[in-house]
Amino acid sequence: MELSMIMILVLILVLVLSAIFFLHSWNSPKAMEGIPGTLGWPVVGESFSFISEFSSPAGIFSFMNKRQQRYGKVFKSYVLGRFTVFMTGREASKILLTGKDGMVSLNLFYTGQQVLGPTSLLQQTGQAHKRLRRLIAEPLSVDGLKKYFQFMNNLAIEMLDQWPGRTVFFTLKVIGNMIMSLEPTGEEQEKFRANFKLISSSFASLPFKIPGTAFHNGIKARNRMYAMLDSTISKRRNGEGFQQDFLESLLKKHSKDASEGDEDDDNKLTDKQLKDNILTLLVAGHDTTTAALTWLIKFLEENPAVLERLREEHREIQDGRKDGSSLTWSDVNNMPYTNKVINETLRRATILPWFSRKAAQDFEIDGYKIKKGWSINLDVVSIHHDPEVFPDPQKFDPSRFDEPLKPLSFLGFGNGQRMCPGINLAKLEICVFIHHLVCRYKRSSRWAILLLQSIQHQILGSYTSNLTLYPPLQVETSGEK
Ligand code: HEM
Ligand SMILES: *[C@@H]1O[C@H](CO)[C@@H](O)[C@H](O)[C@H]1NC(C)=O
Ligand SMILES: *[C@@H]1O[C@H](CO)[C@@H](O)[C@H](O)[C@H]1NC(C)=O
Repeated sequence: MELSMIMILVLILVLVLSAIFFLHSWNSPKAMEGIPGTLGWPVVGESFSFISEFSSPAGIFSFMNKRQQRYGKVFKSYVLGRFTVFMTGREASKILLTGKDGMVSLNLFYTGQQVLGPTSLLQQTGQAHKRLRRLIAEPLSVDGLKKYFQFMNNLAIEMLDQWPGRTVFFTLKVIGNMIMSLEPTGEEQEKFRANFKLISSSFASLPFKIPGTAFHNGIKARNRMYAMLDSTISKRRNGEGFQQDFLESLLKKHSKDASEGDEDDDNKLTDKQLKDNILTLLVAGHDTTTAALTWLIKFLEENPAVLERLREEHREIQDGRKDGSSLTWSDVNNMPYTNKVINETLRRATILPWFSRKAAQDFEIDGYKIKKGWSINLDVVSIHHDPEVFPDPQKFDPSRFDEPLKPLSFLGFGNGQRMCPGINLAKLEICVFIHHLVCRYKRSSRWAILLLQSIQHQILGSYTSNLTLYPPLQVETSGEK
């Protein structure tokens, strides 16, 4: 009893002291005075408007847009425990994305850091980061992906045959199979999906690890996922269940024997690194690809001329096939218009609306002095809607990609040292799915809306901003369906 009283008193003292310290340090970033903007209230800063606008239909863009109108393209804020400078433009992109290694590092929120673990690619910098990227590059290269094509193709056909009536979990099943040869149905798949959903929703949560919170649930789901991986890894080590998947290709690096020389240490991953990075690929690769597919279907709905042109490309592929044979690997690598539609989708939707970095040293951008330790958010939405590069920026127009663009004007997959290593995989998944979708259904109609709702509610949950859905149009489906 007495002991707990003392503990409570100590706790209160610590809280008061840290509050004083916090308020004191509130005034301390003198160096930030030169940067326009307001830091909001002490302690909480502008976190509330940040969170509320983040979850509003307009998404985070309205938070940035309002402040840009007031302060200009560079402004400061204090959100979620961080002094943050928002900036945009090609000059800033050049320095932040392609600048000297070690000047900036990736800047995950605390919850993300805790869930993914310290050895995740997202938390590595410099040489360690380069080395890890090299290890995952091979299975994600165009050649490395070839062996997953047939699985993807069959899955897309099967799912669209069963749909509507069955939920489409295309992207999750693809990545689960590629990474650890998970069967598309069954108990393991169900467990995998349930855990993944919890992990995914813990990223944008408050950092309190109290039972019942999204963060706490995320950590627990992560631990269950790691236990699943552990048992698969030990099976593989015992020579059972050999598969050609990412896990296997990383395990090979892992167990390469030391007699091959010093260089080998470089190619080894510990179990912890292996698990952290498998999870990283899942997290970085799933919601992004799903959001891209969802937006793409929405944009097709809104732009019948684009849909018609896209359908022409795919019909030609279909007509070129003999006797009902299916889509081939060389077909998917020859879809020029589809690729423009994908890029235009990523420009208009800008799935990662800003890239977050942390200054690893002092430096200067656009005349503003940035100090070591500050968070810097590169606003990509503004870059993607710059009327000088993209006239009539709100218009969805894939022909913008007919000509090569100026460097750093399109950042759908990022650029520089941290450019998306999953670009080939994402494009492959989208090409395969879209092919079967547009070949199967005729004219924009109810299917698109139903599919959108299904993808959005079942897979995305409330993760991305709510898309505006249309009143159902006339149902008009082709003879096939
Ligand atoms: C359409 C789908 C996708 C989009 C729009 C996308 C977008 C991006 C962008 C913009 C970045 C750079 C972020 C930054 O610089 O801060 C990035 C990084 C990354 N992406 Fe993707 N991505 C997609 C799919 C994938 C897939 C399928 C995978 C893997 C299976 C993946 C794995 C990663 C990883 C691991 C990083 C971090 C790279 C590093 O820090 O070095 N992404 N992605
Ligand atoms: C789409 O964007 C990617 C990444 O920036 C680029 O490499 C590719 O050439 C673009 N494709 C088209 C068709 O413009
Ligand atoms: C998304 O929109 C639907 C329909 O308007 C609404 O019922 C739902 O609550 C919205 N979800 C979010 C996360 O805003």
